[in-house]
Amino acid sequence: MGRYRIKGGYPLRGTMTVRGSKNGILPILASVMLTEGETILHHCPLIADVHLTLEVLEQLGCKIKKEGRSIIIDTKGCKNADINETVQKMRSSILFMGALLGRFQQAKIGYPGGCEIGMRPIDLHLKAFRNMGVVIEEEKGLLCCDGTKCIGKKINLDFPSVGATENCMLLAVKAKGITKIYNAACEPEIVELQTFLNQCGAKIRGAGTDCIIIEGVKVLYGTEYTVSSDRIEAGTFLCGAAITKGELELKNICPDTMRQVLLRLGEAGCLIKEQKNSIYIKAPQKIKPVSRIHTGPYPDFPTDMQPQFMSILTLAEGTSIISETVFEARFKHISELCRMGADITVEGQTAVIKGVKSLKGAYVSGKDLRCGAALILAGLAAEGETVVENACYVQRGYEQIEKVLTSLGAKISLE
Ligand code: UD1
Repeated sequence: MGRYRIKGGYPLRGTMTVRGSKNGILPILASVMLTEGETILHHCPLIADVHLTLEVLEQLGCKIKKEGRSIIIDTKGCKNADINETVQKMRSSILFMGALLGRFQQAKIGYPGGCEIGMRPIDLHLKAFRNMGVVIEEEKGLLCCDGTKCIGKKINLDFPSVGATENCMLLAVKAKGITKIYNAACEPEIVELQTFLNQCGAKIRGAGTDCIIIEGVKVLYGTEYTVSSDRIEAGTFLCGAAITKGELELKNICPDTMRQVLLRLGEAGCLIKEQKNSIYIKAPQKIKPVSRIHTGPYPDFPTDMQPQFMSILTLAEGTSIISETVFEARFKHISELCRMGADITVEGQTAVIKGVKSLKGAYVSGKDLRCGAALILAGLAAEGETVVENACYVQRGYEQIEKVLTSLGAKISLE
């Protein structure tokens, strides 16, 4: 499984270049199935979720070449195939449902399993697909989808789900007629998917607002595209600087996509300086408590930054409150932080974090991707040695985090 061993007490200092966005590239990789010919993607993060998605594309007959951080995908000769196991391992492969229906009008896909950070149903995806005329039946745990009668429609999402918005875009981009997605997610990754697909010849507008309008086209072509930088990786490293009383400069990141996180780091006493494409942070000697944080759909505070931010607040000079409103089981880091000496109590979806003087190194378990990241940050600041089990979750979304942290002065190894 692998674990991180951390010796705490070393501030993060220096400059790092933010890697490509995990949540940006995953829908783009699925959408490549809709294109004819070759697509070249640059600035790709070399993380486990990307490797797994490339395996799916290979199963679907795509030819893949990797050159450093560039990935070349040729869809000539691609074919339809059932996607079952990967959906169990990685929820985002549900996006192949829209992509395969767009390409072949048929898809067989497993029901997403696992219960990492909550129930995570796909009812919104299925309701929207059925609304657009896709016939979906469940057979032996597989969703068998027939999209031969699929047409553009008005879709009203009951919640601005990121995955459901992306899946609808993938289904609609080659469907006959016009699709309007109301109450769409507004995340920067949705804008990125629109930009990529339009570069391939799609006609999509409105991404970044709550109404996306898609005019179906007959053909999409391969293209060359540079993936944007990962705002969650950037946020995690900023929190790393904050919790270790460090000082960092992050390059290749757009501060506008991280507004809430930057505001809250400022409130916690960090000095933040922004430029168009970089962020500088200098941590205070003592973290200040912050007013209540609610996670929520973009542009609210991202749920993907909640665990890391909570790690910082364990060391604040006072009490802070965080309410998690997006996922119902995203507090798994709390019991582990408490083993390190944090003082956190939970009532329903709300955590009350009373700052303590110091955290103590302990043996803890990263139970999902961001939980693992939060524990690594706590370990960087704790007295003594911390071991974070289940490195595999962290590797899903951070490329060689131990190497990047070491280059910034941390004492951390992967074993
Ligand atoms: C994406 C991100 C994930 C991030 C999340 C919220 C990717 C690969 N993953 O996940 O990192 O934490 O957005 O910003 O981009 N829901 C339903 N029914 C559905 C779909 C969702 O009830 O059909 C619920 C979920 O259970 C959850 C909430 O809606 O409580 C948000 O989920 P969603 O926005 O869909 O997240 P993902 O796309 O899975």
